[in-house]
Amino acid sequence: MKIIMLGAPGAGKGTQAKQIADKYSIPHISTGDIFRANIKNGTELGQKAKKYMDQGLLVPDELTCDLVMDRIQQEDCKNGFVLDGFPRTIPQAEALDAALVKIGQKMDFAIDVDVPDENIVNRMSGRRACLNCGATYHIVSIPTKVEGICDRCGNSVVLRDDDKPETVQKRLKVYHEQTQPLIDYYKKQNILKSVDGTQPMEKVFADIVAILGE
Ligand code: AP5
Ligand code: MG
Repeated sequence: MKIIMLGAPGAGKGTQAKQIADKYSIPHISTGDIFRANIKNGTELGQKAKKYMDQGLLVPDELTCDLVMDRIQQEDCKNGFVLDGFPRTIPQAEALDAALVKIGQKMDFAIDVDVPDENIVNRMSGRRACLNCGATYHIVSIPTKVEGICDRCGNSVVLRDDDKPETVQKRLKVYHEQTQPLIDYYKKQNILKSVDGTQPMEKVFADIVAILGE
């Protein structure tokens, strides 16, 4: 099962992708998490990516595509994977299709988690993320058991650098310009499914399971 999660920043792609990965036993591949791990570890890729991320801009395709193509060809991706935050541009989608064609495969589902811009800024200012294990919380709807500490790994949870309201606005603009066209791209391939991402998380997940099958 090969799945793409589409949706605006803060729509809940990561929240849902983690649950999909658990339920269907496939890896969760988040380009945002990969970049943040590289920033944390001070790698060259991390230093390059940070410049773009902090401004709410996309990291250039040439830094992004090869990384994902390598990842999806690893052994643990044999039975499928869920891509979260990739592709984000038409050239990325085309690179993904081309890489899969070479190995006689194709994507199965592109799930658009639909949330209007008005809901997004609120969600983001309350989000807390663990930069160690990638777990995501919300100070009101999903608080950590101990304030500021990740339930899963015990590291600190923080407001992401790019979750400041002005950067979120910029990310939304970039989303509408560069990523939203992918909705039509996957509609044309007949693999687009939409879910209402304004519902409670459990309901969003139930709708996704209804699409993917038990
Ligand atoms: P990335 O990390 O992918 O960020 P994003 O797309 O902006 O999305 P988010 O992770 O912010 O949101 P999400 O949809 O995962 O929502 P979440 O589940 O956390 O990318 C960051 C940056 O990296 C980009 O800006 C770019 O610079 C770069 N980058 C990454 N991939 C790239 C690529 N392919 N090409 C180029 N550049 C790339 O939920 C949000 C909050 O809402 C949480 O607090 C959550 O608890 C809460 N929540 C979730 N669901 C619900 C619900 N149903 N009801 C109420 N609250 C909810
Ligand atoms: Mg995310």
